[in-house]
Amino acid sequence: MDMNKNNALNRQRTVYVHGAAGIRQTLPFDYARLEQLAKDKMSPEAWAYIAGGAGRESTMTANTGGFDRLHIVPRMLRNVEQRDTSTNLFGQLLPAPFFLAPIGVLEMAHPAADLAVAKAAAALGIPYIFSNQASVPMETCAHEMGDAPRFFQLYWSRSDELVASFLQRATACRCSGIVVTLDTTMLGWRPRDLDMASLPFLKGMGIAQYTSDPVFRKIMEQPDTAPRPKSAITWEAIHTLFSATRKYPGSFWENLRNGVGLRAVRTFIGLYSRPNITWADLPFLRKHTDLPIILKGILHPDDARKALDYGVDGIYISNHGGRQVDGAIGAIEALPGIAEAVRGKVPILIDSGFRGGADVFKALARGATAVGIGRPYCYALALNGQAGVEELLTNWMADFELTMGLAGCKNVDEVRNTNLSEGR
Ligand code: GLV
Repeated sequence: MDMNKNNALNRQRTVYVHGAAGIRQTLPFDYARLEQLAKDKMSPEAWAYIAGGAGRESTMTANTGGFDRLHIVPRMLRNVEQRDTSTNLFGQLLPAPFFLAPIGVLEMAHPAADLAVAKAAAALGIPYIFSNQASVPMETCAHEMGDAPRFFQLYWSRSDELVASFLQRATACRCSGIVVTLDTTMLGWRPRDLDMASLPFLKGMGIAQYTSDPVFRKIMEQPDTAPRPKSAITWEAIHTLFSATRKYPGSFWENLRNGVGLRAVRTFIGLYSRPNITWADLPFLRKHTDLPIILKGILHPDDARKALDYGVDGIYISNHGGRQVDGAIGAIEALPGIAEAVRGKVPILIDSGFRGGADVFKALARGATAVGIGRPYCYALALNGQAGVEELLTNWMADFELTMGLAGCKNVDEVRNTNLSEGR
């Protein structure tokens, strides 16, 4: 694996030399344009689900706005000819200090969904966190990834047996850790989805980890006693039935006859997550996996301290890309307090609002170990599948390497020892 030493200039050269021959890259480099092109390509429902946030979306503004108040103060005459962006995460050497954050229902962006992302991540050696709400089972993705690093993101289901099964499968898929998402015990209040009255899971999308799970399938066979909301038989209802039936593994007609598509959706809704989890539940995870446990959604230093008391192996700062609590603290703003609480005892991962190399630099300078890329890779996926995600990651690596070198740092350790200027 190429550990990304001095690659940025090659990337720049490729772009400009190709440009001189009239060949353009497929993805725009400007983030706003990437977003716009992805929006044009995606269905309104897909766009609402992926781009949207909770409430007035003020947490999304806080996420990106937090970077505008932090300034890199470049240092000169430091010989940055040799630049090395590699870094260590849970004992693995990575080419750059970032990873692909878990995003559910990627089939809304591109039919190859998680599989395209897994292949792109593996091609570049960037870790990929499989989503609990994936469109492709983790085994299918892991199979295509060789030895490339991957993690599994867990939603704590109402069925402990299902949680244990997910953990066992993640181990068999050679995941390097379990990322437990704590902030989504219920879905946030998301006006864009509510306005479209659209929730992809009801159409059988984003539940592939469940429908491929032996414990889930066993639960599906139990009598379904949950009350059924009354809904009229409309074309839309038939479309939903067909979609859920098509998404379920196996033959469409067989699935339709058995009614498994809608049964899977109803079983999923009943099990999705457990709002009553507490700190006291964490030992259950430890009992069922030897993999590192990383808690995702930590925003308060006291929660970080508590996590350390419970012996977790990593802290993951996130507000779920602003999709859960409107008005929540921006992720980058939460970082210094948490870094202070953690004091280097375990790695600190962070996502929510990162839009380029400078943002990654700022997070490392504030104490993060590695940064999660979210919506940007989803947009690259929408625009050009696996090749799009590879192109986006190549650009991020080049952007980060140049920002690092031009700021006077030769490597990630030097970035970590950099002071930022704070202000308007
Ligand atoms: C689920 O993970 C969501 O954010 O919709």
